[in-house]
Amino acid sequence: MKIELNENKILFNNGTSSKEIHPFWLRERVNNEEYLDKKTQQRKFDPTSLETNIEVKSAKITKDILEINFNDGVNSKLKIEKIIEEFSKNDFLIQSIKREKWDSKLKNVHKFEYVDDIFEIREMYDLLIKFYKYGFIIFKNVPTEENFIVKFANQIGSVRRTNFGEYFNVKSVPNPNDLAYTSLALAPHTDNPYRNPVPCIQLLHCITNDVDGGLSTLVDGYKVTEDLKKKFKKYYDVLTRVKVKFKFIDKDVVLENWSELIRLDENNELKQVKFSPRLDFVPILEKEELDLYYRARNKISEMYNSDNYKIEFKLVPGDLMMMDNYRLLHGRTAFDLNEGSRYLQGCYIDYDSTEGKLRHLKRKFDI
Ligand SMILES: [Fe+2]
Repeated sequence: MKIELNENKILFNNGTSSKEIHPFWLRERVNNEEYLDKKTQQRKFDPTSLETNIEVKSAKITKDILEINFNDGVNSKLKIEKIIEEFSKNDFLIQSIKREKWDSKLKNVHKFEYVDDIFEIREMYDLLIKFYKYGFIIFKNVPTEENFIVKFANQIGSVRRTNFGEYFNVKSVPNPNDLAYTSLALAPHTDNPYRNPVPCIQLLHCITNDVDGGLSTLVDGYKVTEDLKKKFKKYYDVLTRVKVKFKFIDKDVVLENWSELIRLDENNELKQVKFSPRLDFVPILEKEELDLYYRARNKISEMYNSDNYKIEFKLVPGDLMMMDNYRLLHGRTAFDLNEGSRYLQGCYIDYDSTEGKLRHLKRKFDI
């Protein structure tokens, strides 16, 4: 990829073809002190107040700088590298991290020792990359203070508060409003599919865990949906097509959100899995379509619950797990309350927290 000149035309060559860059696109990016605030990188002018028929009067390339004189009298020097960077329509950093699909054979559950300044050191960058690769990471020896989870979350980014509050306690309580607050086994599920938007990342911090059972389970929705696509294409198609309603009712709120069980992005790549079969309501569709949908839901449920895909491990006091709620399903095995207590605290953050931190660390350490 490179920038070329043809008289007063500025061209972008992507290796196979060369196309003119709109002069206004370049004019919007003038970075002289007069037009751009260096610190915030925000414009000091409003581009919508300019005429759109801006033209390039003259241009030259010197090493890695493109110098342009526009016909409105403005002159600017732009770094060629920066222009090329912008030609990638994807988020370069996040999209460049290759997601590793995994199943029950996953060898390394990634665990990292917590240190006080962890959020500002180089290692945090590597941890976040691992998080995007596998969909989860575990920090060890995080102080088991009450509500430390909120402090932790706010140092990565910002807690995503919900109607449950800033954080939630996972322990058995009388008259629970959710099965999470019992000692029953929880089948793999994604959290809060009824919210709009669904919280992106769940943090779960183990404060005490004296019981034998109560193992945490994780399943990679990315791996399962890819396998479903390979082996049962019709099921995959119907689950990426049919929108169902997810619903949650509490005494002062009714939450609803419609979505496919497998949500794809504009490139037909996995964007989000949703699975919580106690809360989903499919609309009345043609009988054949519903028939296919129900068989597909059973099949994906069988796969999510299969030992082939699930990993199980015990969270011990001080462990703090960060998991991608758009990609992984989580659950737990049953436990016996007579053996002792099991107490975890959880909260949510959104992708802007992890992405923002990752870009900040990249800039800070010039990676
Ligand atoms: Fe959950």
